[in-house]
Amino acid sequence: MSDFSHLTLDYLATAVILVDGESRVIYLNPAAENLFEVSGKNLITNPLQLIFTDTGQLANAMQRALHNNASYIEHDLMLMTHAHNKLHVRCTVTPVQFDKPCLVLEFHPMDRPLKLAREEQMLDQTQANRLLLRNLAHEIKNPLGGIRGAAQLLEQELDKPGLREYTQVIVQEADRLRTLMEKLLTPQGHTRHSALNIHEVLERVRSVVLAEMPGGLTIKRDYDISLPALIGDKEQLIQVILNVVRNAAQAMHGHGRIILRTRIARQVTLFKQRHRLAVMVQIIDNGPGIAPELRDKIFYPLVSGRADGHGLGLTLAQDFVSQHRGTIEFDSEPGCTCFTVMLPLP
Ligand SMILES: Nc1ncnc2c1ncn2[C@@H]1O[C@H](COP(=O)(O)OP(=O)(O)OP(=O)(O)O)[C@@H](O)[C@H]1O
Ligand SMILES: [Mg+2]
Repeated sequence: MSDFSHLTLDYLATAVILVDGESRVIYLNPAAENLFEVSGKNLITNPLQLIFTDTGQLANAMQRALHNNASYIEHDLMLMTHAHNKLHVRCTVTPVQFDKPCLVLEFHPMDRPLKLAREEQMLDQTQANRLLLRNLAHEIKNPLGGIRGAAQLLEQELDKPGLREYTQVIVQEADRLRTLMEKLLTPQGHTRHSALNIHEVLERVRSVVLAEMPGGLTIKRDYDISLPALIGDKEQLIQVILNVVRNAAQAMHGHGRIILRTRIARQVTLFKQRHRLAVMVQIIDNGPGIAPELRDKIFYPLVSGRADGHGLGLTLAQDFVSQHRGTIEFDSEPGCTCFTVMLPLP
């Protein structure tokens, strides 16, 4: 490519990558480096797979452009970078002839409208979940008292001591259900917000989960210790991270690796509000991944993939995060599941 066109592309706001016929990178402009969080120097002559984890859809678009020898636009392309950023883009692929056949790839991010729609859906869903859970908890809690009382009365009338075992089961199970229902009825309302250090939250969760599952579990820290203080409810945030980390540890049956990562994020829009700064917390595990049939609904109440799961951990996590005006999302494939919590900074 001539120096002139090279320089022009450097100034473009659109992300551009130039590849040869074998999908090897010849050039990428600074906008592309920014969008995909990579450094151009290290990528030249390397395959596109060094930028994206899955290039299937993109390869398809490239093949079509080459085959028709004309520009091809893929309107709905999902790309995952190696830094676990999922990007929704429109991509134009144009064949060009330099000293060999090449392809110019232009990427236009489409994340904003999609992200807004997703956040709105999340807010609706959280409110619906909260209402459903409260009503359900209320309806279950009332008859439980009656069941428990009746079992105790019955126990007094029983002459065979062996039969008491059964009434004990009724009483104990009624107690267990009541504790669960109380958990659902109490969390709303009284939050106590104060300045807090997110790393204290993560460290607490780390030690709790390591104590629960000693042995095969490693929890690595990848902290940005320069992060400023958050304003939030510490107990709620501990519960959020604990629910997510515990899920990861349970999915790996206590044997695997979890990374707790913190980063600063700049100029982020959460629930239509622009924040200059936000804290990004990622919980990444190398377990089996979230079962595909659960992926669309894991934040719904009572959805669980575990025989002894209540399906409430992520519902509560989402509720607490949205009370902090933040978001919680995930990406998952076998061998890599990443939950990302974004919390705005004051
Ligand atoms: N990191 C993960 N890897 C694999 N599957 C996961 C992961 N995190 C969540 N899941 C799936 O999502 C489901 C829902 O999680 P959630 O925490 O809401 O409920 P639960 O863990 O089943 O029950 P509990 O109420 O006790 O937390 C889990 O049962 C599990 O199948
Ligand atoms: Mg759970």
